Amino acid sequence: MTIEEINQKVFEEIGKCKDLKTLEKIRIKYLGRKGELTNILKSLKDLPIEQRKKIGPISNNLKKLIENALDEKRLYLISNHELEPLDLSLPGKKIPHGHLHPFTTLENKIEEIFSALGFEIVESNEIETEYYNFDALNIPANHPARDMWDTFWIKNDFQSKNKERFLLRTHTSPIQVHYMETHQPPFRIVSPGKVYRYESLDASHDIQFHQLECLMVDENITFANFKFIVLSFFQQLFSKKINVQFTPSYFPFVEPGVQINISCPRCNQKGCSLCKNTGWLEIAGAGMVHPNVFKAVGYNPKMWRGFAFGIGLERIAMIKYNIPDIRLFNSADLRFIKQF
Ligand code: FA5
Repeated sequence: MTIEEINQKVFEEIGKCKDLKTLEKIRIKYLGRKGELTNILKSLKDLPIEQRKKIGPISNNLKKLIENALDEKRLYLISNHELEPLDLSLPGKKIPHGHLHPFTTLENKIEEIFSALGFEIVESNEIETEYYNFDALNIPANHPARDMWDTFWIKNDFQSKNKERFLLRTHTSPIQVHYMETHQPPFRIVSPGKVYRYESLDASHDIQFHQLECLMVDENITFANFKFIVLSFFQQLFSKKINVQFTPSYFPFVEPGVQINISCPRCNQKGCSLCKNTGWLEIAGAGMVHPNVFKAVGYNPKMWRGFAFGIGLERIAMIKYNIPDIRLFNSADLRFIKQF
């Protein structure tokens, strides 16, 4: 082919081309190692100097024009998805699956256990009034027990009608009051949720964590009912025999008040770093509902009895999944999450 012939044909062929395979064939036909234009360029060296000076620049120029036209057409075909035919036998790309946060898994399991024990799951507000978080729970203003819960107070711009102060609830116990104000016994409820405390952080203390409140009220509720529920819950949660110990404690909204300790599920009471060689783990505050709380919600304290407890859920998750530091839960560190 002469340069004129190439010039006439190549752009027409590129213009008509409809797929990348044909485009590559055109490139090889003209610019490949033995292509029409390549042959002309190779033969330049054998031409007399005068002819070389004339044909050399024309052929080099044409080569650039062809390369540009090929590039443009390639881009056009790719952007219009005129790609190679699909190879349906190729294996598919693996889509990475997400999974539940270990904490969510634990919460689901806990709710499942309590539902099977006949408890209703209820939810409540994270922003509370001073009345529900403290006063109705037998913790009036200036009561020293308020110091047990370092509180995040909310600025007064949102003061309620009767000038009550708002706060981020420091525990899930206010749900007891909300529920009893609107329901009559007998009932049994659990209420999981976030709570907030203005505390300094360390491996077992966060400023935002979860509690699970449990409340059961009936005519003849005793400590024996309480112990049975606590034992059943922990044995199902850890899928093994667990011992429970109650030690005296103080919360203004229960009488008597106790601390629930469970036998260490990691070492089975032989002693380990988790239980600091005591064999026991402090897990929750609890007690029999104080008559003043029943009075605050309009119940007759001579008629009704109840027990309540509040468990720290992160602490349970730390025991169950062997997590050494509570701060890992909110760290957003994928290396932590991916272990579960
Ligand atoms: C209470 O909050 C009471 N409302 C519990 C209660 C309910 C008592 C019903 C009686 C009747 P306490 O402050 O001890 O109690 O907290 C309960 C649990 O929350 C603790 O046992 C612990 O597991 C967890 N907890 C407390 N502070 C923190 C914190 N800063 N970070 C993580 N977990 C915490």
